[in-house]
Amino acid sequence: MSNRQHCLILIGFMGSGKSTVARELSRLNGWPIIDLDAQIVATAGCSIAEIFRRDGEEYFRQLETDVLVKLGDLHTAIVATGGGIIGRAQNWPLLRRLGVIVYLRAAWPTLRQRLAGSTERPLAAPDRDWNEVEQLFRQRLPLYEQADLVIDTDQLDAATVAREILARTGQGDT
Ligand code: S3P
Repeated sequence: MSNRQHCLILIGFMGSGKSTVARELSRLNGWPIIDLDAQIVATAGCSIAEIFRRDGEEYFRQLETDVLVKLGDLHTAIVATGGGIIGRAQNWPLLRRLGVIVYLRAAWPTLRQRLAGSTERPLAAPDRDWNEVEQLFRQRLPLYEQADLVIDTDQLDAATVAREILARTGQGDT
């Protein structure tokens, strides 16, 4: 799996630690972080919650795909995605083109606990029915599993997850 030019693309459900692990990876190998949610916010000029409220989820999904298309031929970067990027079939070839797709796998109780204080995520807002959020998680599982690499993160801190990713993608000596 070693390819030093390719990006590392982090996927996983909300609360799986994509942003934190991206920071650890960047600290270890020096690659810049491209955060797709941050790019969407910059493009739209408002928060993700606001986009959902004003224009709806489908509009957000289109912005997400647009941002992915615009990345073009990116090399040696860490790409942190939003948890729902895996839902559109057309996003997969765009992700694969960028490099190695890494799924940060976590069990539902871990995610539920991490998402408890989250207020910025419209699909996991405090007033949501948590059974529905869990259902969304279970629906998405087979999609996340299509990643090139799966890391079980429940028992690991972010720095260990990052080191594991680098070891398993041939950058272990970084
Ligand atoms: C979403 C996850 C969020 C963000 C948006 C939708 C999802 O990103 O893209 O709120 O559908 O799972 P994080 O996974 O970084 O929270």
